Amino acid sequence: MKLIPNFASDNTVGVHPDILDAMLSVNNGSTVAYGEDEYTKLADKKFKEYFGKNAEAFFVFNGTAANVIGLRGLTESFHSIICSEMAHINSSECNAVERFTGCKLLTVPSKNGKITVDQVKEQMHVLGEQHHAQPKVISITQATELGAVYTPKEIKTLADFAHKNNMFLHMDGARLANAAVKLGGSLRKTTVDAGVDVLSFGGTKNGIMFGEAVIFFDKKLSRDFKYVRKQGMQLASKMRYISAQFIALLSNDLWKKNAEYANKMAKYLEKRLKEISKIKLTQKVETNGVFVSIPKKCIPLINKKYFIYTWNEKTSEIRLMTSFDTKKEDVDALIDFLKKVVK
Ligand SMILES: Cc1ncc(COP(=O)(O)O)c(C=O)c1O
Repeated sequence: MKLIPNFASDNTVGVHPDILDAMLSVNNGSTVAYGEDEYTKLADKKFKEYFGKNAEAFFVFNGTAANVIGLRGLTESFHSIICSEMAHINSSECNAVERFTGCKLLTVPSKNGKITVDQVKEQMHVLGEQHHAQPKVISITQATELGAVYTPKEIKTLADFAHKNNMFLHMDGARLANAAVKLGGSLRKTTVDAGVDVLSFGGTKNGIMFGEAVIFFDKKLSRDFKYVRKQGMQLASKMRYISAQFIALLSNDLWKKNAEYANKMAKYLEKRLKEISKIKLTQKVETNGVFVSIPKKCIPLINKKYFIYTWNEKTSEIRLMTSFDTKKEDVDALIDFLKKVVK
């Protein structure tokens, strides 16, 4: 079967060869199951090297699970979680957060996926009111669903506000690596150093096969999390195959190289798209997502060759994503094709 290069998502590409090698390297007999193995311990140590000695990594199967059970670990069912209306937890997780935490999601509008303390404050008047779900977590996405990047200061402001109000700051870091390289290459700066309490650390969009990590930065918060993960059906028996992938991703700067390359390809794609006058960029390109509006009638024509997601039907905005595996010639081929069909 022929695989077609496409720009629908950073999920559509394959697995980085170093990751596959790492998985094969642990496929050499038996070891203890359920994360008690030496590879999982080493992966946790790698996370500590990046995030400090208090960081504790819990592996799960996918990004939705990381968000859902991470948030479950911070809340009771009478709580609410404040997030942007376009947050993945609100728009693309089939109410899994609501179902498994029992919490209400309180959403605030956003142009690029970022939210501010002023917006959060608007949801806080219910605090202490027994008739209302109680705000307990602010959840942000770094980089956002529209590819925007929070600065460390913006995150610290949200974290300080959360903590002052006896709340937590959760980060969906499905694309944290892309944001980190945009900000100079530190994974710590917009996470633990900025006051994030729990992080969903993404790997799948950055070259691994599957598996994500829920990272707690405070041991008091993670005390019972192993039970939450098991109840949430996210305890992998053969965990070493997830752990091996993270060991490789966090070694030799692989996470950084992959994200840097993906971001660079997004910039190249942006530059080339500007050659087509009917295509308008709708968002700043800060990471590996390129958002453009395109005449509506052209979308079915594009879909004949390339699978793409329409991000906003009303504005005819589509999303194009690059990854560690995007080839320059694939971008050129896309542009040649778009020049023919977007008129
Ligand atoms: C911002 C964001 N968070 C989380 C996820 C995780 O999703 P999945 O459950 O598909 O791994 C995604 C995937 O598209 C995402 O874009």
